[in-house]
Parts: sequence; C-alpha cells; structure tokens
Amino acid sequence: MSDIKKPILVFGATGQQGGSVTTALLKTGWSVRAIVRDTGSAKSVALRDAGVELVQGTLADTTTIQRAMESTHGVFSVQPSSPGGELSDEDEVRYGISIADLANDTGVEHLIYSSGGAVGDKPTGMGHFDSKAQIEAHIRTLPIASTIVRPATFMEMLVLPGFGLEEGRLNFFAKPDQSMQLLAVEDIGKFVAAIFADRARFAGKTFEIASDTVTGRDMETLFTKAAGRPITYSRFSDAVLAANPFLDRLTALLDQGPLAGHADLNALRKINPEMQSFATWLAGSGRTSFEQALGTGGAWQYNNA
Ligand SMILES: NC(=O)c1ccc[n+]([C@@H]2O[C@H](COP(=O)([O-])OP(=O)(O)OC[C@H]3O[C@@H](n4cnc5c(N)ncnc54)[C@H](OP(=O)(O)O)[C@@H]3O)[C@@H](O)[C@H]2O)c1
Repeated sequence: MSDIKKPILVFGATGQQGGSVTTALLKTGWSVRAIVRDTGSAKSVALRDAGVELVQGTLADTTTIQRAMESTHGVFSVQPSSPGGELSDEDEVRYGISIADLANDTGVEHLIYSSGGAVGDKPTGMGHFDSKAQIEAHIRTLPIASTIVRPATFMEMLVLPGFGLEEGRLNFFAKPDQSMQLLAVEDIGKFVAAIFADRARFAGKTFEIASDTVTGRDMETLFTKAAGRPITYSRFSDAVLAANPFLDRLTALLDQGPLAGHADLNALRKINPEMQSFATWLAGSGRTSFEQALGTGGAWQYNNA
C-alpha cells in the first residue's frame, strides 16, 4: 500500500481535473500540495481554506517544481492543451515531459499522468492528443513507478455554451444510434485517489477511464427528462463540420473508434464504486451547469482549427 503520511503534489488544482483530484485526495486522508500561478485567486484561496499547501509557480519554474516535489509520495500531472489557447502543443509536450523527469529525478514514489481518451498506438492527427502520446511514451522510458489514465469525453463538455441546449436541442459528435463513452469530472479524482492508494497494483499500467456509455438518442432522452421539455438530438450538421475542421476531425475520430472510448466500465466500477452514470450526473453535480446551459447563449471558444 502507499505512504499516506507524505503529500501528493497536484498540478492544475484550480482547474477541472486537478480540482477533482484534490477534493478526492483530501477526502481520503492525503495531504495535498498544489502549484498555482496566483496564490491570491479565488480558487487558490478556496484550496488553501480546504487545507491545501499552495506553492506559487508556473509550469516553466523547474526549480520551484522540483522543490515542491521533495518529500512527496506522488505527483498528479495534467497540462492545459492547445484548444484552451494559452499553450501550444509543443509547450504541452515540454511541460509534461519536464514534470515526469523532475518527479523521476526527485525520487517521487508514484506519478499519475492524465492523458486523453483518444490517445492510443496510432497518431490521431490532432495536436492536443498526439502531444499526450509523446508525453506517455516518454514516461514509459523512466524508471519511476507511473500510471497513465486516459479520460473519456467529460460530461461537462455537453453543457458548454454553443452546443444548442439554449435552443432546445443538442448537437454533438455521435450519430443518434452511435455510442460514446463519457466521464464525470468528479470521478477523475476518485479514480486517481484509488490509484494512489495502491501503487503496487497500478504501477506500469495505462488505461482509459470513463463512467458511462451513451448514444445520441440516450442523450436526447435523458436531457428531455431532466429539462422537463423536449431537447432534440442530432450530430453536428455537414455544414457545421465543413466550416469547422476542429469539430470535423474530432467527429471523424469518433467514427474511426478512438474517441468512442473502450474503457472497461465493469472493471472501473470496482476501482471507483461511486462512478456516475450520465443520468446520475445530470441529476446531481451536473444539474446546475445544465440549467445554466438551458438559459444561456454563446459559442464554445476554441482556436485549434
Ligand atoms: N476529456 C475531455 O473531454 C477533456 C475536456 C477538456 C480538457 N481535456 C484535457 O484536460 C486537460 C486540461 O485539464 P483541465 O480541463 O482540468 O484544465 P482546466 O480546467 O482548464 O484548468 C487548467 C489548469 O491549469 C493551470 N494552468 C493553465 N495555464 C497554465 C500555465 N501556463 N502555467 C501553469 N498552470 C497553468 C490553471 O491554473 P491557474 O489557476 O493558474 O489558471 C488550471 O489549474 C487538457 O490537456 C485537455 O486536453 C479533456
């Protein structure tokens, strides 16, 4: 079993994945240290109030990162990717590799790297997935005990502005009868906490994490029920895909398989018995953002066309 007396260093703790991991680690008794860019931001202050030790730094501050890794049991590594606009794919690779190298050199006992659901043996042709494949390949060359998780499409993506909910419809990647796996962000932390708790079982493993499989028609049924009024579902139109190479390439990746997801949900439920179906998420932690999406307009911002 793992040494729970030592802290875990979490990257991206003010964000979705790192935030979920921090919550789950604190809940299971770990102490958490987090690298944040601004210790005075509202999210950083909330982390400190929850008991997290904050270290001011950026992904480029290798000396700070190395110092923050000293005497930790583990490191949770996640990097922002190019669709967010701040980092290039090359930045993501550089930072992902540097964090892994620093963890290895500092004697960290367990590194968990969060990659991407569509990452596999073959290049996807999309920068923000192929960057993660490069980081994965580097981590596998290092002697450090490491586990790589590949999160499926977040349920939270479905309620972002721009996918149509404010107009009583949802347009997404799947055809009505096509399945894709989804993951509640809250479950990322629960999987990661379970993996940190049992290094001997999970070291050296790479696996997809997801918490449900749904078709387009399932999304229509579940959203309609949750909204109390009809929400129609269809795949993005040909015109939208022709005008948007980024969405078009992601849609092709679903048709080709990688973005559909191949996680073993039964095995994952044994690791995280609380993992959420899409219906559970919609009635629980996703409810507020779903209601906001029903009432707001706007467009999802991405700049990686
Ligand atoms: N599977 C999916 O559906 C899905 C969906 C979205 C994203 N992703 C993947 O998830 C990863 C991002 O994770 P996330 O969604 O948890 O991110 P997020 O919510 O956007 O949060 C980004 C985190 O990184 C920190 N950060 C941003 N830019 C930074 C920089 N230049 N230097 C240092 N820290 C920086 C932010 O901290 P500050 O407080 O300092 O801003 C924040 O904690 C990406 O690699 C992306 O490809 C997957």
